[in-house]
Amino acid sequence: MKIACGADHGGVDLKDQLVNYLKEEGHEVVDLGTHGHDSVDYPEFGQAVGEAVAKGQADFGLCVCGSGIGISIAANKVKGVRCVRAHDPYSAEMGRRHNNCNVLAMGGRFIGLDMAKKCLKVFLETDFEGGRHQRRVGQLEKEEQEN
Ligand code: RB5
Repeated sequence: MKIACGADHGGVDLKDQLVNYLKEEGHEVVDLGTHGHDSVDYPEFGQAVGEAVAKGQADFGLCVCGSGIGISIAANKVKGVRCVRAHDPYSAEMGRRHNNCNVLAMGGRFIGLDMAKKCLKVFLETDFEGGRHQRRVGQLEKEEQEN
């Protein structure tokens, strides 16, 4: 799969490690930065990841900031994006299974690499269940179109 990845300075180390992990797993990565530890603003990177996914330039997105909070809010402001902030595999799984999330957010200051890999793996391997959940996701999409 093709995964768009982005982070601010608080998430760049974890993002870089996960980019390597994704490549090792055979995925194609679009690394939208940041690169290095200079202070940057998370909205730019959350938005870039969200837009790559919304425009179909990537199948899924991964965004990382210090807490995962700011960058998840930024990604979720892009039309067509459903971003879940998950630091445990069950949340990552349910974000896919019930909410058809297309972006995963994590906090580089909140989670270790091994757990982050588990969350990312389950996120990418879990299918959306559809059915009654499709109705609900459809309601979210309708609201998004009306706003
Ligand atoms: C940057 O210090 C930090 O505020 C940012 O990475 C993120 O945690 C915001 O939600």
